[in-house]
This record gives sequence, structure tokens and C-alpha cells, in this order.
Amino acid sequence: MSVCDPAVRPGGRGILLHGANDLMKGKTAVIIGAQWGDEGKGKIVDVLSEKFAVVARYAGGHNAGHTVIINGKKFILQLVPCGVLRPGCRSVIGNGVVLDPLAFLKEVASLRENGVAVDGNLFVSNRAHVILPYHRMIELASENAPGRVKIGTTSRGIGPAYEDKMGRRGLRVADLLDLKLLKTHIENACSEKNMIAHALFNSEPLDPDKMYEEYAAASEKIAPFVSDTAVLLNRAIADGQSVMFEGAQGTMLDIDLGTYPFVTSSSATSGGVSIGTGVPPTAIGTVIGLTKAYCTRVGGGPFPSELLDKTGDILRARGNEYGAVTGRPRRCGWLDLPLLRYAGMINGISWLVVTKLDVLDELDEIPVCVSYKINGRATEEIPAHASGYDNIECVYKTLPGWRSSTEGITELRKLPKAAREYLDFIAKESGTRIGMVSTGPGREQTMFVDEFAAEMESVTG
Ligand code: GDP
Ligand code: IMO
Ligand code: MG
Repeated sequence: MSVCDPAVRPGGRGILLHGANDLMKGKTAVIIGAQWGDEGKGKIVDVLSEKFAVVARYAGGHNAGHTVIINGKKFILQLVPCGVLRPGCRSVIGNGVVLDPLAFLKEVASLRENGVAVDGNLFVSNRAHVILPYHRMIELASENAPGRVKIGTTSRGIGPAYEDKMGRRGLRVADLLDLKLLKTHIENACSEKNMIAHALFNSEPLDPDKMYEEYAAASEKIAPFVSDTAVLLNRAIADGQSVMFEGAQGTMLDIDLGTYPFVTSSSATSGGVSIGTGVPPTAIGTVIGLTKAYCTRVGGGPFPSELLDKTGDILRARGNEYGAVTGRPRRCGWLDLPLLRYAGMINGISWLVVTKLDVLDELDEIPVCVSYKINGRATEEIPAHASGYDNIECVYKTLPGWRSSTEGITELRKLPKAAREYLDFIAKESGTRIGMVSTGPGREQTMFVDEFAAEMESVTG
């Protein structure tokens, strides 16, 4: 019997009988990266998920690396939502995610080894698409092919898996569980992909029999996690339970709205929640946008406020700005307010969370990009064309630093005056309220604005 079977809900109607109006909008919150990813989503989801009933991922795959530090113990989650670390909180991998079965099982094994309960607690959508070895093969070969735009991907096969999804030739988790279908799919796909990869990139062919054996074994282990998670989520909301949607990547990496083509292949913005989980837009409540107190990006592509001098190195060293998944050094720069305003508009951000304030502690002064000039003309416009960014000149306003430690401060009033003024400036210029500030990687190194804390209480209450 599945948890999603309407018949098993004691005394209740099946969710499919509920109208959209029955869903409680006030019971959901979305955590969104407002920059190019790595804004600290893992830490903030962990802090906020304490009282949430469910946390769901809706986009991306194991290209994400979400760091959570609990009592000094570090977890880096790639596919599994960070809510899994909260006992009693159910975790969902939604249909918008691309799932690498081997990466998933590795992560599950590591969580089990660390005493984290996953069984009966973690649910994978039967509609999520599957990443197979040829996706990685094609991605690696094409990234290095002459004449190709080098995106600097995480090499996890994410892009090619989404290509197959959109090309209507993908394999879904439900199909992975059907071994006959899996065998046929792997045989057909391998014959096609091997041919393409050989012709275009001279790649060595992959062996379909070996692949089938490996993935059939994985299929058996994944089966207990699989369900119709759209039903699970909608039912939870209809029952008045709180659901948090954990964004991956960030607004500027969104396939449609980011710095295309230097983006990932999924809908990272809040609009992605609905298509990536099956929860209707009418049920989406609070949207919480995360920004670092400065800016980073990993991989290629435009970054108007990037620092290519030693100040960038200082931010990287103090912020430990190395990719959680690939270990690549992250590019660092000043906070970019035009992009933050854009992220506010695109996502409908209701609250901003500023992370890594402590990283700026030692600076004498802190420039912030307040506007752009393109070809000498002031503009609010975010270019649609990647090359448009080459002509951007950032206009900076320099704010005084505070030159004292904010690390671990948990009350806004205890922050140095210049740090409070820096935060006020961000709020005013981005047109968004700040709800939380993070002053260290640990759970407790966090402060709340009362109004935001009250809103979270009402979402989860
Ligand atoms: P995510 O992908 O958005 O979850 O972010 P990552 O986990 O990839 O990167 C954020 C990094 O910053 C991690 O190493 C976190 O432990 C760390 N971090 C998060 N918040 C803070 C903070 O307020 N201060 C400091 N110094 N580090 C933080
Ligand atoms: P989290 O969830 C930062 C970047 C890659 C590359 C581009 C495309 O931890 O914030 P892909 O492998 O997705 O096709 O790569 O997107 N990228 C990320 N950068 N944080 C992430 O996730 C990222 N996921 C992908 O570096 O530039
Ligand atoms: Mg990350």
C-alpha cells in the first residue's frame, strides 16, 4: 500500500477530489538563490525546516551542493533535501529534478551511515527524469569540443538529461522500475548515443549490457522511495501541513531568466516550484530570496561586479569560496543590486536573507554595485544577450566597513552600526525586507527579524 493511495487516508477524501481553493496558500515557503547559486540555501533550509512537515526539491540534480553544519558536523547534500536532517520532516525529490540513481544511492548510504533516517521519510517522484552514463559522456565530450561555448558545467550529465526530457526521449523513474522497459530503453539509447558521441567527439562506446545490469540493480534499491509526490505534496498542503520548497542553483542560472547560455538546464526560480512538484502556483506562499553579502559565481559566464584583483582572493579565502561539489574556486565580487532587484521581480521575493555577513568583517570599505551603465548610458535593464554584459560598467557606492567580528552574532542590535547600515542599504536599494541574517556556517549563527520569525511561525503553526 502506498502512502499516496487516497484510500489509505483515514476518514479523508482523496486529494484528487479537492479543488485548488482548498489548498492553503499560507502553508508554503520557497527558498530561492537570488544570485548564481551557493548563497547558503542548505544552511537556511536547515535552520527554517525545524517546524516544517515537508521539504521538497523541485529542480536541478546532483549539480547542487548544499552545506549544512550541525554541531560542527558537516553534511553536503546534493539530491536529498536538507530537511532530511530534521527528524520528523519528510523529504521529497520532485518531478522537476533529474535523478542520477547511483548518486542518489550513494547519498542515501552516506546519510544512513551518519544515522540519518531516510527510510519511510524520503520520497522520489515517479515522474522525475533519470540521468544515465551517456548523459555524462556526451556532456564531457561536448564541453571540450572545439567551437563549443564552454559553460564550465559540473559534468554530472545534467544538461543532456534535461535535453532528453524535452526531446521526449528521456527515461523517468517510473520507467526505471520497469525492467523490461529499462532494458529496451538502454539498448536503443546506447546505440543512438554511442553513434552520436563517436561521430562528433570520437568517444569510446558504452556497453549497454553492463549499464543495464548496474541500473537494474539500482532500480531495485530505489523502488521503495518512489511514489507520486505531487499527490503527497498536495495532500500535505490540503491537510494544513507546512511545505518548504528548497531551490537549487540560483536565479541567474535559471534556463530562461539567467545569463543564458551560461546557465543550468532547469527552472531554478520560484516559477519552477509549480512545474517541478505538481503543486499549483495558487498554493505558493512566502518566497524567501537568499543573497550573500557579496557575490560569487562558479563556472563561466558574465559577472559584472567580479573582482579580479587581490580583494577577490581575500573574499575567496575568508568565505572559503570553493565549490561544495567540484571543489572549483568560486569567482568573487561585490554585491550587485541591479541583479538583486531583478531576482526580486522574477521570483516575487517577499523576504530577503543575507548570508555570510561575517566574511566582510575585516574590510575598511565595501563597494556595492548600485546601477549599471551600458555604453555610457545608465540603465536598469538586465541584458538578454550574454555579450551585452561585456559592455556593462558597474556604478559603485562605497560603504564603510565595520572592522570588527560579527561571527556568530545572533541579535541584530548587537551588530556593529556600520554592519546594520550596510544591511539597511541593501534592503532599501533592493526594495525588499530583510528577514534573516547569517553570520557563520553553523545553525545557531543566525539572526531573525521579529516580523519574519512571526510569519514563519504562522506558516508552520
Ligand atoms: P548552497 O548551495 O546555497 O546551499 O550553498 P553552499 O553550501 O554551496 O555554499 C555556502 C557555503 O557558505 C557553505 O560552505 C556554508 O557552510 C557556508 N556558509 C553559509 N552561511 C554562512 C555564513 O553566514 N557565514 C560563513 N562564513 N559561511 C557560511
Ligand atoms: P547550488 O544548488 C553554483 C553552475 C555550474 C555551471 C552551470 C551549468 O549548490 O547553489 P550544470 O552542471 O548545472 O549544467 O552547470 O551552472 N552550477 C552551479 N553553481 N551552485 C550550484 O548549485 C550550481 N549548479 C550548477 O558551475 O556554471
Ligand atoms: Mg552549493
